[in-house]
Amino acid sequence: MLSGKKILLGISGGIAAYKMANVASMLVKLGADVRVVMTENATKIITKEAFEVLTKNKVYTDVFDQNPADVKFVPHITLGEEADAILIAPATANIIGKLANGIADDMLSTTVLPARCPVIIAPSMNVHMYENRIVQDNIEKLKRFGYEILEPASGHLACGYDGKGKLPSEDELVDSLLKAVAKPHDMEGLKVLVTAGPTREAFDPVRFITNHSSGKMGYALAEVAAMRGAEVTLISGPTFIKKPYGIKIIDTVSAEDMYNAVMSEEKEQDIIIMSAAVADYTPICAADEKIKKNDGDMTISLKRTHDILKTLGENKGEKQFICGFSMETENVIENSRAKLGKKKADMICANSLRTPGAGYMVDTNVVTIITKDNEEELPIMSKHDVSDRIYDAILRERAAQNN
Ligand code: CTP
Repeated sequence: MLSGKKILLGISGGIAAYKMANVASMLVKLGADVRVVMTENATKIITKEAFEVLTKNKVYTDVFDQNPADVKFVPHITLGEEADAILIAPATANIIGKLANGIADDMLSTTVLPARCPVIIAPSMNVHMYENRIVQDNIEKLKRFGYEILEPASGHLACGYDGKGKLPSEDELVDSLLKAVAKPHDMEGLKVLVTAGPTREAFDPVRFITNHSSGKMGYALAEVAAMRGAEVTLISGPTFIKKPYGIKIIDTVSAEDMYNAVMSEEKEQDIIIMSAAVADYTPICAADEKIKKNDGDMTISLKRTHDILKTLGENKGEKQFICGFSMETENVIENSRAKLGKKKADMICANSLRTPGAGYMVDTNVVTIITKDNEEELPIMSKHDVSDRIYDAILRERAAQNN
């Protein structure tokens, strides 16, 4: 996801500097060319050699550390200018103060000043330092100048206090970079609602009816939209997937919950994608206590749930784009096209449970994108790549509709 991208990690002297070894390694695995600039204090917490081994690149700490054989490579200018994104983590009150006031007196501060790429800053320090009004003022100033500030996490801090000031997790730091550089920001300004996962229809306090949906397709759709700059809301049924960073998440359990959540969010959305596997039926009534077994057979009476996609299609807002998914085991295209009409959707992404590499639980999918006038059959690809192709198609369709 980051191949061909140059990521600059700026590491200052907070205790969490040691965590950046993991971040550097994760970025290398994602294909990035990772450059590291450290302050002198950071090298007292973790050695620069650790990052040189992990990134296979020279680590810079000194502005005058220049290779005399390559005078065109002026490290503090070239590194900042070449970077596709810069992450300063942990960012101490000192580096925040310097950047906010244009001070460039060491390798890290002089490298960030000439950079024109997105700069993400992850403050990490003692809670009282973080809350200090001077530090907060500097953070606000950096925000005004277009720097992205990651909110520190709360918890037990190295200084012994409990409070805000922890470096966000390594996953969150990597996600923030992915969001900044991995994709073109062609969905900036769009609001996207995605539903994901199964629903659970309880018939007593210990049992429920559900399906095999893992939620992977919906989570990939939400993540990719966020990476392309959209403001994303993810309404998730029960899944075991790690919650993505930077996305508004509403957890739901039953089809009724999901219906209510979608209805409360749908009005302001530009694009809605119903990738959740919503139950079509729910028990007429759920027992308050556990149902005890008898010798004979048992029957559970079911009633229809709301068809969320159909409701959205029938009440579609002006310029709203509604996309559904269709899981079939036979007559995939024919049945899915019928859903496009019946539910008044703009697009249906059809997939078959019978195709190897498609459907529930797996990380890949095989999808045919169906619209009123088109059918685009995609090869097997990762759910993230499928998501990109779906958004490419949606943006094309929206442009055509709005012309
Ligand atoms: N869907 C929905 N509300 C429901 C059932 C389904 O919004 N109560 C949506 C799904 O999220 C999906 C689309 O409708 O986007 C198609 O779902 P699918 O299960 O493939 O088809 P159904 O409409 O349920 O029809 P059938 O089960 O008869 O194939």
